Amino acid sequence: MATATSSTNSKKQLTTTQISDNKPDAFEGTPSFSVPGLTLEEGSDTAAVLQRILNTYNDLHLTLKHVHWNVVGPNFISVHQMIDPQVETIRGYADDVAERIATLGSSPQGTPGALVEQRDWDDYSIGRAGAIEHLAALDAVYIGVITSIRKAATETEELDDVTNDLLIGHLHEIEQFHWFVRAHLENAGGVLSTAGETSEKGSAKSATS
Ligand SMILES: [Fe+2]
Repeated sequence: MATATSSTNSKKQLTTTQISDNKPDAFEGTPSFSVPGLTLEEGSDTAAVLQRILNTYNDLHLTLKHVHWNVVGPNFISVHQMIDPQVETIRGYADDVAERIATLGSSPQGTPGALVEQRDWDDYSIGRAGAIEHLAALDAVYIGVITSIRKAATETEELDDVTNDLLIGHLHEIEQFHWFVRAHLENAGGVLSTAGETSEKGSAKSATS
């Protein structure tokens, strides 16, 4: 994962790793209904944007659990315990997005196979490692995730105000989670130890060197 986004082997650059221009197969064709006020095409287009975010959230909450289980060394317990509320929140956000897709008349794709098939990023690249390594990698992950959500919010500004509002609401808490992570990587001068890095392993190396 994570998210997307951010592994050193990512197939695309950071700002685009989670952002595919291809609609998932589930969104080929037009739904038979949408919410009042939206055309069927608008509902379908909005659902396609949301499917990318559903994939992002499902990948992110699994990746966060992976970190929860694999962090070791000094500061283990603080990071281990910090992660679980983020997992629960992101799982809830995945539910919000999936149910919005269904509300719009499309079918949310929530299986692991669909996620792997549709995503255009690689798995999170760090296994058992220290707290700072994982936090630095999560900095890169959250950069990718937030970039993707902001793009989706922009894409839905003209399509569907309700979906746009949903995504903006998610950003409030997700950007705070990112700050929780970054606060461990920031010095008294306000400089991040991961500054300039865009990959998980690059950030981890920069933060520990
Ligand atoms: Fe646990």
